[in-house]
Order: sequence, then structure tokens, then C-alpha cells
Amino acid sequence: MSVEATAELDRARIAELTEREQRRLDETTPGSRAMYERARRALSGGVASAYQERDPWPIYLERGSGSRVWDVDGTERVDFHNAFGSMPQGHAHPAITRAVERRLALGTQFAAPTEDAVVVAEELKRRWGLPRWRFVNSGSEATMDAIRIARAQTGRDTIVKIFGSYHGHHDYVMVSIGVPYEQIGDREDYASLPYGGGIPQSVADLTVPVPFNDAGAMERRIERLIEEGRPPACVIMEPAMMNLGVVLPEPGYLEAVRELTRRLGVLLIFDEVKTGLCIAAGGATERFGVEPDLVTLAKALGGGLPTGAIGGTEAAFEVVESGAVYQVGTFNGNPLAMAAARASLEEVLTPEGYQVLEAREEQLLGACQEVIDRYGLPGYAVGIGAKGCVTFSPERIVDYESFKAHQDKELAELSWLYNMNRGIYMTPGREEEWTLTVAHSPEDCDRFAAAFEEMASDLTA
Ligand SMILES: Cc1ncc(COP(=O)(O)O)c(C=O)c1O
Repeated sequence: MSVEATAELDRARIAELTEREQRRLDETTPGSRAMYERARRALSGGVASAYQERDPWPIYLERGSGSRVWDVDGTERVDFHNAFGSMPQGHAHPAITRAVERRLALGTQFAAPTEDAVVVAEELKRRWGLPRWRFVNSGSEATMDAIRIARAQTGRDTIVKIFGSYHGHHDYVMVSIGVPYEQIGDREDYASLPYGGGIPQSVADLTVPVPFNDAGAMERRIERLIEEGRPPACVIMEPAMMNLGVVLPEPGYLEAVRELTRRLGVLLIFDEVKTGLCIAAGGATERFGVEPDLVTLAKALGGGLPTGAIGGTEAAFEVVESGAVYQVGTFNGNPLAMAAARASLEEVLTPEGYQVLEAREEQLLGACQEVIDRYGLPGYAVGIGAKGCVTFSPERIVDYESFKAHQDKELAELSWLYNMNRGIYMTPGREEEWTLTVAHSPEDCDRFAAAFEEMASDLTA
């Protein structure tokens, strides 16, 4: 990961290219435009989730197969978005399709346990080395329940999170994410800021943000909370941040967080909704060798069906097993989702599957870095496992403050347009990263690198 001296970019040129690429995308997506005009009359904003909104209209998809997706205009693109990282299996994987079809004929929902849920829990226990598991239906449900378990286990209300991290859409964690830079507050005493309307300040105040990659700041803040008589129940964090592009933990950081949380009697929750199953068979927990008290999974777990999981130590799960915490949900462990998850774990995300992901990642990171170096762009390629990105910044990003201060928003947006116009379906949003799949070929990665090189060349011409 290097950030070399870079070419001074012409901002007028960036604006001109952005306008050209925007026009080209508009002209080639009339079907999406028509769908949007129809959709917005019934579906608010024309989308099922605000994260699918796009100006002037979203690109509506029709189908996917392997590494490809097709939009409603029939345009084929190689998918590097993969549903915000839910699909490292690739689309319509035959093993998952078979398992789901088998289950469809046997009944899809009982709200009673089935064997597939047992098998999936056994496999997650093996991969994460954590002895107890429960299922939910999304990442938000997983983080909400994990925090409740931590609160019940410790008898405390306050929680600590990383400033800028996203952990789902419930009130406990919709705090201090993507806020205007001026409102962050002092690094030693970051503000608890509700993310969007409808979140009571009194609830947000229970959530205390600290900077990523700074164990000293976390320790000082926890010690102060203890002095103030509001010791935290838990620290919830992504072991590698996946919503500022990709920000890896500095060497020794996770070990220091583990040591200080244990010493101060605070439970450690690794939110592996994005990292889990994407960066190693046993997620960040395996990859970095640091064991949390609780872990949350979702996205890739279901192989394209909605599900999530919470794993934990016996001590953390004691409140679940005793019935002190109601960990519940009608669709928890839904048979269709569990059949897909089982097939994914047993037949797709296997040691051979991870070898493919690692090989493609190495190729793509190498190719992107080579383009950056050759054209002197301000940025660097960074990633781990199936996840990666080009971070457009003259400085290395280590936390939210450095991201806000240095990320080149205009380049991030231009690069998305270049991708979309050259057969690359990339995650929208300048905070996002790519997710590779076991179905991606070396040629798919070449296509990504070629689009990137075209942009680099146009920018520096
Ligand atoms: C790290 C992390 N945790 C939790 C969530 C919430 O997951 P979901 O959207 O399935 O509720 C997300 C979603 O992007 C996430 O990235």
C-alpha cells in the first residue's frame, strides 16, 4: 500500500469527464428511466431501500448468473458490487440453486428448527471457534441482538462504537456515521450524533464513538466512562472497516483492543456482516487471530437469501440460554435461507473457493496499483480476501477523520461512472468497495483494470 508523489489533477477536466460519462450512462439506460417513472408512483423513491436510490434514476437489474448481471435494458456487466458483498458465491450458483429448489418442495417456513440450521451452526462454530450460535434475518438484527446480549450480560447501558462505522439501521448504532466533518467534535470526546431523523438523542447518547486504529483513545474514553459512572457494556466494531473503502487494522491494534476490553470488563463484538465469509473461511476472527466475545454475520451467509447470525462464547450466551434475554424472531433460521447457507458453506465457500478469491484479489489489487503508479494518480489499492478498492487520496486513510479530510470524492464518483459505462457493475457510493466471487475469471478482473486505466489515461492526457 503505497502513496507516492502524484500528478496534479485538473479539476475542470474531472468535471468535463464526469459530465460526459453521466450523459453516456443516461443515454444507455432508457429502460431504467422508464421503470423509475413507473416505480416512483408506488414504491417510495422508486426503490426498496434508500441505499438503492440514485440520481437521476437507479439502474434496475433483471437477472444475474455467475459473475454477470443484466439490467432492464439488456446491458451485461461484470458484477463487482455483489449486493454490498452478499454474493461471493456469484449469482445463481448451481449448488445453492439445487439446495433451494429441493427445499422449496419440502416447505419453506415452519418457525420450528430444522436440521440445516443445526448443520450451519456447527460449521460456523468450527470456522469461528465460538461455541454458541443463533440466527436472525439481517445484519441489523444481528447487531441489535448482540448488543442486547452484551447489555444483559454486563447490566450496563452504554456502548462504544467506532466513529464512521455502519452497523445497521436500528437506533443503537445509527449514530456518528457519515456526518459533516465540523460536527465530529474532539478526537478524545467525539459527539454522539443521530444518523438521520427519528432517532432520539437520548438513545444516541448511550452510544459513544471512538476513532478506529487508536487503542489508546479507546482506552482513555472507556476509563472516563467508568469514572463518570456509565461503564460500557461492549465495544462493537468491524475488525477491518468496510465503509470507508477498506481500512485495515494497523498491526497490533486488534490485539490491544482485545486486551483492554478484557481488562476493563467490556465485551468485544466483532461485526463481521461484511468481513465474515468474505475475507476468510472464519472471517476476520480467523484472519487476524483475535477472538471476540460475540460476532455478527449476515450478507454472504445466506448465499443470496436473507439471514444473519450471532455467535459467542459460552459466557456471553449464558443470558440467552437462561432465557434472561429473549433472542427471538418468526423467520429466524428460515428453512430456505438455511438450505442456501448450508450449500454455500459446504459446496461453494470451500478451501478451493477461498483460493480462487485470493488469486483474483491479488491480480486486481496488483493491476490497479500498477495503473496508479504509472499515471501518478493520488491513491492506492487496498483490500483483503474478496474485498478491495482503489482509495483516491493523497494520504493513507486510517480512520474516519483521515477519510473525510483526504478522500477525493470527485474521482471516486467519476470512477463509478467509468465502470458502469464499460461493463463493470460497481458498488455505488464513494465509501464502498468491490466484492469478488468464486465465479470471477482473470478476464473479468482484466476488464476492471482496463476501465480504470482508461480513466487514468483520460485524466492525465
Ligand atoms: C458492518 C455492517 N453491519 C451491519 C450491517 C447491516 O446489515 P443489513 O443491511 O443486512 O441489516 C451492514 C450493512 O451494510 C454492515 O456493513
